[in-house]
Amino acid sequence: MHGMSDTLTILGIETSCDETAAAVLRLTDGRAELVSDVIRTQLDEHAPYLGVVPEIAARAHAELADLTVKAAMHEAGIGYEDLDGVAATSGPGLIGGVLVGMMTGKAIAQAAGKPFVAVNHLEGHALSPRLGNDCPFPYLLLLVSGGHCQFLEVRGLGDYRRLGSTIDDAVGEAFDKTAKTLGLGFPGGPAVERLAEGGDPDAFALPRPLLNRPGLDMSFAGLKTAVARAAESGMTDARIKDLCASFQKAVTDILASRTARALDGFDPGGDGQKRLVVAGGVAANKAIRAALEAVANAAGARLIAPPLRHCTDNAAMIALAGAERLAAGLVSEPDGDLATGARPRWPLDEAAARAAPVYETGRRGAKA
Ligand code: KG4
Ligand code: ZN
Repeated sequence: MHGMSDTLTILGIETSCDETAAAVLRLTDGRAELVSDVIRTQLDEHAPYLGVVPEIAARAHAELADLTVKAAMHEAGIGYEDLDGVAATSGPGLIGGVLVGMMTGKAIAQAAGKPFVAVNHLEGHALSPRLGNDCPFPYLLLLVSGGHCQFLEVRGLGDYRRLGSTIDDAVGEAFDKTAKTLGLGFPGGPAVERLAEGGDPDAFALPRPLLNRPGLDMSFAGLKTAVARAAESGMTDARIKDLCASFQKAVTDILASRTARALDGFDPGGDGQKRLVVAGGVAANKAIRAALEAVANAAGARLIAPPLRHCTDNAAMIALAGAERLAAGLVSEPDGDLATGARPRWPLDEAAARAAPVYETGRRGAKA
């Protein structure tokens, strides 16, 4: 345990994509208590471009980072001297934004004489169910966002095994590209979901790539191309709804069947209870959630979906990862990770990443 008390108070900072966020968290004997949690989204800045523009994101983070931190500290009602450490996302992500958050965190840590913790953004997502739920290790994580789509076995702090991932587009990216093709604006996921509700999911026969292959890898690029081809046939409002519904159904089928297979092969260890966690922005999708719930029930597993606020990018999960790392003695004091640099790519499971690189060609590059 760190310091004299059993409680660690950590400031977390997240700036790796289009959310500028800061949070203060207390960790007492492994239990997390969120003291403040500020998230400022840049959606309006990026919407005209139908995607996240790295340069615009970096500038917005530079404008917002200090104010966001100030707001989080003010809400928490503490001073920097009350912190036990400062954690910031240090990758993977859009490098301009990552640099802003990291330098902000390092400067505060140095001025206050506290250790700095360099947090892997993906580790934040991986630990996010532990923010509010009783979610002991190990569990199976399905991370589905605009930049990532992967199954991870979360065995313990710092102990992750990638079981499978997309070999091309991330699933959120597929939603966004479908929306772009159909002229529905950005971000695409919520718009596609809304229209899908009024459409016929069987109207278009769309492919389910890789579904008959062994393993847990996924592919969405072919689906996106099929949507683009279908849209060439002249779209009415009703046909757009049908195409959204058919697309969403195809994605749901892919995720559900892969998740069933992942749960089947998952060893729950000690207590015998299989836990399935779904995180990332796509976890907001009600049809996908319902399908995962059914898959979990069929496998006798418990589905844990963090509240939406903590499914999408936030600083609470970064503060939690930082606090858990400090508490576990994984950070060398007094300076911590001050010497660590920003990493645009930073796989959680380095061995798996070397064996089978994930192709990250989308609008968000290496972003989760
Ligand atoms: O986790 P997130 O907020 O940001 C990162 O990518 O890190 O995820 C955003 C992604 C976008 O691609 C967005 O279109 C997708 O999540 N998304 C959804 C829904 N809400 C957001 N996809 C499907 N259905 C939704 N309701
Ligand atoms: Zn993320």
